[in-house]
Amino acid sequence: MKEEKLKSKIQIFVCNHKRDDSESCSEKGAKELTDKLKKWAKEECKGEIKIYRSGCLGKCSEGIAIACYPEKKLLLDVKQDDYKELKDILKDALKG
Ligand code: FES
Repeated sequence: MKEEKLKSKIQIFVCNHKRDDSESCSEKGAKELTDKLKKWAKEECKGEIKIYRSGCLGKCSEGIAIACYPEKKLLLDVKQDDYKELKDILKDALKG
C-alpha cells in the first residue's frame, strides 16, 4: 500500500450512473454537467477543486446527486441549469 496527499482542497463526485430499470442521474444530464464542471475547474481553479465522475451515490430518485468533500455534503436534485450556482457554491467553499 502507498499513501499520497491529495493536491486539491475540494473533491466533488458527480454521479454519472445509468440504470436501465429505474430513474438515474445519467438520464438527467449528469455527464454534460460533469464535463462542464471539469472544464471550469481545470481552467479556473488552479487544481484546488477536483471533479470526479462517480458511480451511484444511493440517491437515484433525487439525482443528479453530487457528493462534496471535505464538507461531507450531498447536493441533490441538481439540474444542468444549476451549473452557475454550483460554481458559486464551490468558489465560496474554497474561500473557507
Ligand atoms: S444513479 Fe445517481 S445516485 Fe444512484
